[in-house]
Amino acid sequence: MADAQSYIAESLPRWREELDEFLRIPSISARSEHDGDTRATAEWLCDRMRAAGLETEIIDTPGHPVVLGEWRGAGPDAKTLLVYGHYDVQPVEPLDEWTSAPFEPEVRDGRIYARGSADDKGQLYLHIKAAEAHLKATGSLPVNLIILAEGEEEVGSPNLVPFVEGHRQRLASDAVIISDSSMFAPGLPSLLFSLRGLAYFEVHVQGPASDLHSGSYGGAVVNPANALAHIISTLHDQDGRIAIEGFYDDVVEWDEATRQAIRELPFDRDEFQASVGASELGGETGYSELERLWTRPTCDVNGFLSGYTGEGAKTVLPARAMAKISFRLVSDQNPDRVLELFRAHLSRVTPTGVTVTVKDLHGGHPWKAQLDESLKSAATSALERAFGATPVLVGEGGSIPIVGEFERILEAPALLIGFSHPGCNLHAPDEWFPVENFEKGIRALAYLYEELA
Ligand code: BES
Ligand code: ZN
Repeated sequence: MADAQSYIAESLPRWREELDEFLRIPSISARSEHDGDTRATAEWLCDRMRAAGLETEIIDTPGHPVVLGEWRGAGPDAKTLLVYGHYDVQPVEPLDEWTSAPFEPEVRDGRIYARGSADDKGQLYLHIKAAEAHLKATGSLPVNLIILAEGEEEVGSPNLVPFVEGHRQRLASDAVIISDSSMFAPGLPSLLFSLRGLAYFEVHVQGPASDLHSGSYGGAVVNPANALAHIISTLHDQDGRIAIEGFYDDVVEWDEATRQAIRELPFDRDEFQASVGASELGGETGYSELERLWTRPTCDVNGFLSGYTGEGAKTVLPARAMAKISFRLVSDQNPDRVLELFRAHLSRVTPTGVTVTVKDLHGGHPWKAQLDESLKSAATSALERAFGATPVLVGEGGSIPIVGEFERILEAPALLIGFSHPGCNLHAPDEWFPVENFEKGIRALAYLYEELA
C-alpha cells in the first residue's frame, strides 16, 4: 500500500461505522446534564486521533476540554497546518420532529442523519481520516499537522481565545484550515470568503411587582409585553434596515468584484423560497437574497417570553417580558460597539413605567478571508481533484467567532472549506450530511495536505 488515496478507498466502510460511534455520543455543550457525554466525546476523539498516528492530549479548560493532536515529523522547514473543528453539538429539541433519533445515526437517501453529522463532528472527522490515510499509507504527512478540537463552539467558545493565546507557540502555523460550513450546491465545492459576526442579547422588561388582573389594572399600568413589542418594533425601518443610530457606521460596502461574483452564482430564488416553506421572502430593500445573507447585517428576535401562553384565555397583565435578540454583523462592525448602540437605543425608545435590562450573552467578530494566491490555488486543485469541479467563492451568513481570533493571535490566514450541503438542517431536527461528501471530503483534504506542502 503506497498512497493515501487507495488507503482511503479500502478504509471507507470501516470509517463509516466509526463515524457512527462518534455521532452516537450526545456532546451537547449547552446542557450540563451532558457534561459527562461531552467529556466522553473528547476522550473518544483523543483515542481516534492517537490511533490515526497523531500525538494527542486532552487539555482541560474552565469549560469543556480541548483535544489536541499533533504530528511534527515533516520537520522545521516544512509547512505547519492547524486544523480547527468542534466536537460539541447543539441541543436536539424539538425531539418529536426528528424522523430518526438524533443520536442514532441513520442513512436515508444518501444522507447520514444525526445531530452533529454536518455541524461539526462529521466534518472534523474528515480531517482526522485524511491525516490517518497519509500516515498509515506512507508513514508520514507532507506537512506538520496540528488538529485542535474544541467542545464549546456552540456556546460561543468562551474559553478558546485564552487557550489560543496561552498556547501561541505550540499552535504557530502557516494556515488554519476549517471545515464547518457548507458548499454552495451539491457537487459544487466552495471556498468561503466571509462569515458574519454575532452580538447576542437578552432583553428583560420589568413592569409591576407581580402579575395583575388585566381588567382591574390594564390601561393604568404599563404592560411589559406591550412595551417589549413596541421596543422590538423600533428596531427596523420600512426598508428593513436596522433603525439604531450609528449601527451602519462601521459597515464596509463590499467591493464590486465580490458583488459581481455573488451575482454570477447559480442561485435559484424560487427553490430557496420553496426550501424554507415561506409564502414570500423578505429583507433589506436594495439587496439580493445572497447579498442580504452574506454582506448585510441583521437583527432578529430569537425568542420571546411573556404572560400566559397555556390553553385558553387568561386575563392577565404580566409582570415581566423577555426577548432574545441577536444581530448578525459584517465587517468592520464590532459586537462591543453594537452593545453600546443597542443600549443607547433602548434608553431612547423604552416607554416610561417599565425598566429594561440587557444581558450580553455572547458575540464574535465578522470575518473576511485574506486568501493569498498560493492558499487559494492549493485549495482549488485539491477540490478539483476530489470533486472534478472547480470551486466557487461563497460567503456565509452564520458565524464562527474564533476564525478572526486565530488570524489575529497566530498571524496565519484561515482557509474555510465546508462539505455539508445547503439545507443540511444545522441546529434543526433531521440534521444530515451527504454520504457522497464523506468520501470526497476525506479525499479533498488528503490532497489539500499535499497541495499545501
Ligand atoms: N457551523 C456553524 C457556522 C455555520 C452556520 C456555518 C451556518 C455555515 C452555515 C457554527 O457551528 C455555528 O452554528 N455558529 C453559531 C455561532 C455560535 C457563536 C453559537 C451561529 O452561527 O449561530
Ligand atoms: Zn453550529
